[in-house]
Amino acid sequence: MMQETLKDLLISELKDLYSAENQLTKALPKMVKAANCEQLQKGFEGHLQKTKQHVERLTKVFQLLKKDPAGKKCMAMEGLIKEGEEVIEKYEEDSSILDAGLICAAQKVEHYEISGYGSVIAWAELLGLTKEAEILKETLEDEKEANSNLTELATGHINKAALTGPDKEDGMEMSNDKEFSSQGNKRAKSHSR
Ligand SMILES: [Fe+2]
Repeated sequence: MMQETLKDLLISELKDLYSAENQLTKALPKMVKAANCEQLQKGFEGHLQKTKQHVERLTKVFQLLKKDPAGKKCMAMEGLIKEGEEVIEKYEEDSSILDAGLICAAQKVEHYEISGYGSVIAWAELLGLTKEAEILKETLEDEKEANSNLTELATGHINKAALTGPDKEDGMEMSNDKEFSSQGNKRAKSHSR
């Protein structure tokens, strides 16, 4: 068996990121649809556009390396997306809790990507692949920005809304009655759009 090199590892991790970004382009529209807060919805929409650019950038990096981007499935991203879908299913009826959960799921994704891009950039630089490293750095900055925007939204109002609940905001008592609470959420949903 041939000895693996750092460049082999770089290419393998780039394939992982390529798969992760592609999976994300399919998952983000569902998160846009599920989000209740308009700012969060817009944030996800914006990041969907950025994610498509991230796929293009990776394609460009593979062209420079004269390698094929296909051939690997990012299992971690598959799992993170699955967890996000579970949050959507579980908190469908509780708009503010759902938004807080969606932010948590999205931040896990961002942190995963940040660590992946951080490593491939460091290796590319060591290998003298300056052009490739520069392209990847642009994406890393996008991911960091997305992460801090999510933190701002969470600490700004979404976590607080999740604590008090939309029913309480409306000046009503919290209720365990399913019908009652889903009505409250419907009102909160139409209010935010
Ligand atoms: Fe990305």
